[in-house]
Amino acid sequence: MAKSSELTKKAGAPAYTVPGMGTEQALEVAAILQNRLNALTDLHLTLKHVHWNVVGPHFIAVHEMLDPQVDTARQFADEVAERIATLGASPVGTPGAIVGDRDWDDYSVGRAGAIEHLAALDLVYAGVIADYRGAIEATEELDAVTQDLLIGQAGQLEQYHWFVRAHLETAGGQLSTAGAHTEAEATSSVHDRTDAA
Ligand SMILES: [Fe+2]
Repeated sequence: MAKSSELTKKAGAPAYTVPGMGTEQALEVAAILQNRLNALTDLHLTLKHVHWNVVGPHFIAVHEMLDPQVDTARQFADEVAERIATLGASPVGTPGAIVGDRDWDDYSVGRAGAIEHLAALDLVYAGVIADYRGAIEATEELDAVTQDLLIGQAGQLEQYHWFVRAHLETAGGQLSTAGAHTEAEATSSVHDRTDAA
């Protein structure tokens, strides 16, 4: 079951949509896309927050790694928003509306070391990408054009997730964040690993 925007559903079906699709179907697709727009907007702001707040010995590597990810997430948000508009619905990009419409909390880590932020970002990317999978499945029948857009974006996000996870992986292929369900658990898991080393 794909996550979809209550805000978009409340707005109701658009007056028109792309040829060959019904307006109720367009509404369903737009609501799924608004949920992805919320996630991408949150993601690019969160990645900048980490870019600004990372400290310690690996500062420059993580600081510089994140800017291309910010740019990509912003570009993906633009693509998703313009697909919503193409479908005849209204993409919502204002911060308060996005916060009211999302079902997750703000990123919880402030100034912290590189490995702590990367552990927390592992969970951020895992959540975003798992929800992409749900949206891809749901658009299989609803709208193959939207599905194609989401598939392309998911592939790039999965690669960025790997960039993050590669820092958290042992030579044996284990992730230090395995089993962590919250950002706090993820950041303390890397401390445990450091302590054990
Ligand atoms: Fe910067």
